[in-house]
Amino acid sequence: MQAFSLTGKTILITGASSGIGRAMAIACAEAGALLVISGRNKERLSETLQLLHGEGHSMCVADLTNEDELAALVDFVPKLDGLVSNAGIANPLMLQFVEKQDVEETLNTNAISVIHLTRLLLQEKKLKKDASVVFTSSINGNRCAYIGSTLYAASKAMLTGFMKASALELAPKGIRVNSIEPGMIETELLKDGNISQDELDKDKQKYPLKRYGKPEEVAWAAVYLLSDATRWMTGSSILIDGGYTLQ
Ligand SMILES: NC(=O)c1ccc[n+]([C@@H]2O[C@H](COP(=O)([O-])OP(=O)(O)OC[C@H]3O[C@@H](n4cnc5c(N)ncnc54)[C@H](OP(=O)(O)O)[C@@H]3O)[C@@H](O)[C@H]2O)c1
Repeated sequence: MQAFSLTGKTILITGASSGIGRAMAIACAEAGALLVISGRNKERLSETLQLLHGEGHSMCVADLTNEDELAALVDFVPKLDGLVSNAGIANPLMLQFVEKQDVEETLNTNAISVIHLTRLLLQEKKLKKDASVVFTSSINGNRCAYIGSTLYAASKAMLTGFMKASALELAPKGIRVNSIEPGMIETELLKDGNISQDELDKDKQKYPLKRYGKPEEVAWAAVYLLSDATRWMTGSSILIDGGYTLQ
């Protein structure tokens, strides 16, 4: 259906070298978008590029927490119909052991770099009128919390505040800002920490649908938010958690 198509739209996706971001890039290309993908690992980012349907996609290696690399990414991208700020880290740590640099690393990667990327794209006039901006947030910090996730939860709650205020501020330009709040999704992020397979298997049983989500199950929501099907939707969060936060 035409309203769900991304044909003719140019979209930047960060964190596209892995997991959810890679699945988003694949799904957006299948829906007809022209993509600029970004990540830190050149080899894995190139792998994503190879997986994209269609011609003309490009990639830009950048550490989003590095001011110069962020500026180079903004410089590299053409005018955009869509931005998906998806890059993120988990950094699980008990508060008792948190150091100043852990706070900075998590907040910088998951939230502050997102604020800078959005503001720079806006200031450099790289976001077209009627562009759609999507943030990969989380249930964690917004609808629930986990032990060992103080920094992650704080970063994702920060993202939600930024999403809502920027949605309001950018509405007169026709720019929409929304987020996606996934529960646990099967990606490399789950290996960030010392959680055993046994613990993960037990945790999956807490989900009413009895499994974790798959990256493509989040990616399809990004396609929806980037498409014209959601042109009257801004300041919203889409919850995708297999029913976890119902309980
Ligand atoms: N998996 C889950 O259960 C889950 C649940 C809710 C929300 N999320 C969110 O979903 C997003 C994607 O996570 P994922 O599960 O797909 O994890 P992932 O497989 O570990 O992918 C994370 C991506 O973020 C990129 N990245 C991290 N730090 C970066 C930095 N400083 N500069 C640029 N890129 C950076 C990574 O790039 P390189 O690998 O190239 O360094 C990678 O492409 C994150 O925002 C995460 O918080 C995940």
